[in-house]
Amino acid sequence: MSLLSRLLSQAGRPRGWFGRTLVRGMNRGHAGLTRWGLSQVEIFEDAHVLDIGCGGGRTLETLASRAGRGKAVGIDYSEDAVAVARKRNQELIDSGRVEVLHESVSSMPFADATFDCVTAVESYYFWPDIAADLAGVRRVMKPDGQLVIIAGMYLGSKFDKRNTKVIEAGDMRCFSAQQFEDTLQGAGFAHVAVTTEPRKGWICAVAESGK
Ligand SMILES: C[S@@+](CC[C@H](N)C(=O)[O-])C[C@H]1O[C@@H](n2cnc3c(N)ncnc32)[C@H](O)[C@@H]1O
Repeated sequence: MSLLSRLLSQAGRPRGWFGRTLVRGMNRGHAGLTRWGLSQVEIFEDAHVLDIGCGGGRTLETLASRAGRGKAVGIDYSEDAVAVARKRNQELIDSGRVEVLHESVSSMPFADATFDCVTAVESYYFWPDIAADLAGVRRVMKPDGQLVIIAGMYLGSKFDKRNTKVIEAGDMRCFSAQQFEDTLQGAGFAHVAVTTEPRKGWICAVAESGK
């Protein structure tokens, strides 16, 4: 296994000391991308928000501050990521504003129509079954809920050569803008809007649950 493949395997499911260090680094490294992506949506003060693949938990902190009278829940299937995210958000957890759960996107324990907004930053690349997983995401969203998928790579950007190497080495999924639109519509989402930041190679797909 190449060094790049090992690194991407850790990014896809952080483990051990290295994984914990990596998610702390991603908290810093993904801050600009996350800020840009979240600027595409309005998050209401009293929103109930879910962050899928929350990693080191920085996005949860941001979501809790945007939804000042609501709640932010993070899930991650890496126990080490969950531990880092909990530590980072301890005060917000103690005050009941944030919750971090060790769960996979494929088997979320939430009731139907729980969340007003669902975010996923640099995470969908690794979901095992995108169609089924998106159906699960849609199930836990309220009827007028918004899904926000933010990613630092997409097909069709000026970074295609670099990104293709990364995707192959990590055995990851990476959509073009059109594939995002088709896949989200195919999973039942409505009003899909895909925005790119071509200079950086970033993409953000926003979709309504369409129920
Ligand atoms: C590249 S990291 C991004 C972490 C964080 N969102 C950020 O932007 O810094 C991807 C995260 O998604 C999580 N993840 C990947 N597949 C997942 C799945 N099927 N269910 C839950 N979490 C998943 C990984 O464990 C990892 O913490």
